[in-house]
Amino acid sequence: MTQSSNDVPALHPLLRERWSPRAFQDRPVEPEKIESILEAARWAPSAMNEQPWRFLIGVWATHPAAYDRLFQILLPGNQLWAGQAPVLMLSVAKMRNSKDQPNPHAFHDVGQAVAHLTVQAMALGLHVHQMAGFDAAKARESLSIPEGYDPVAAIAVGYQGDPNSLPENLRERELAARVRRPLSEIVFDGQWGEAAEAAEPGS
Ligand SMILES: Cc1cc2nc3c(=O)[nH]c(=O)nc-3n(C[C@H](O)[C@H](O)[C@H](O)COP(=O)(O)O)c2cc1C
Repeated sequence: MTQSSNDVPALHPLLRERWSPRAFQDRPVEPEKIESILEAARWAPSAMNEQPWRFLIGVWATHPAAYDRLFQILLPGNQLWAGQAPVLMLSVAKMRNSKDQPNPHAFHDVGQAVAHLTVQAMALGLHVHQMAGFDAAKARESLSIPEGYDPVAAIAVGYQGDPNSLPENLRERELAARVRRPLSEIVFDGQWGEAAEAAEPGS
């Protein structure tokens, strides 16, 4: 596991500077920015253009009841910080395609749509923090998610806040270095386990 993305000059600044904060400012997100990040998700590629993504959204400033429903599905560890974010969402995958066959790429495509949403958010000065830590059964029930659709990830969106606003244990994690596996561990040259030239430093 190596280095911070801040040390990777080859990355586009929107990717280099992306990270998942827990501290958010007490500042609403402008409606046009919310629409913009949702458009970014909408225009993501997907297998057979099935667009299996769906989103439930709660905007604290304008729809506090919807926000609270989303907040209530989060696991306690995420509730410690996510209530600072002015916008909460839940991504949902449509698990069968338009021919009513299983869509094995549904989660992939939902994740990709959220990646697009995240980069668009960065371009607008926002940050995004995704969460697997939510209660899927509770989400299905309290948000009326129908059969054939599976909850994927909760998502907090807002303007990055001051780490000092967090409880101490979270503040430490907020300030910890971000690390990643080296390319040599995750990229192979056609055959599993064979070092890839493209993954060697300086190649
Ligand atoms: C699908 C998914 C689920 C995640 N679940 C949680 C979570 O429940 N709680 C949390 O604090 N962070 C969660 N994260 C954030 C990751 O911990 C974070 O992305 C990872 O540590 C890399 O850090 P970075 O996003 O700041 O680069 C999740 C991220 C993803 C993509």
